[in-house]
Amino acid sequence: MIEFLSQSVADTEAFACRLAQRVPQAGFVALFGGLGMGKTAFARGFMKGLDYTGEVSSPTFALVHEYVGAKQDVFHFDLYRVTSPEDLYSTGFFDYEGRGILLTDWSENIEELLPTDCIRVHIAAGEGDEQRKITVEGLSEC
Ligand SMILES: Nc1ncnc2c1ncn2[C@@H]1O[C@H](COP(=O)(O)OP(=O)(O)OP(=O)(O)O)[C@@H](O)[C@H]1O
Ligand SMILES: [Mg+2]
Repeated sequence: MIEFLSQSVADTEAFACRLAQRVPQAGFVALFGGLGMGKTAFARGFMKGLDYTGEVSSPTFALVHEYVGAKQDVFHFDLYRVTSPEDLYSTGFFDYEGRGILLTDWSENIEELLPTDCIRVHIAAGEGDEQRKITVEGLSEC
């Protein structure tokens, strides 16, 4: 398990940038962390780590954002409204498996469906407004 104490948005982005470079081909990265914890900041840094230069934002309304053409294609899902396996099937989620990295916001909602080898990233509040405690399971270092 990796533990990282972020002191700023830039810290979170830089950490995610490093982490992205260690994710295996078509790996699964499950983000945990409530509203405003920094999931989008993490995703921005993550895509930078794969040399993606386009816009990165919360896939809230689109459900999935497809970031293609960089070192690895990434499919970024917002699972906020997904609360059952049936819901997940109906998003077409499983059609994306193996096509690139899957990055999921609100992984809390599909915890029992996560593959055992997935990389779990928890972002929690730290002290004050700017600190975040980031823990990563499923990667030994980054
Ligand atoms: N260390 C930090 N890391 C990341 N974000 C931070 C940090 N400190 C403060 N912030 C602030 O927290 C907010 C994080 O916003 P962001 O959109 O990344 O969160 P989110 O988890 O994607 O939220 P949402 O659930 O609404 O999509 C921003 O306003 C950012 O400035
Ligand atoms: Mg977001």
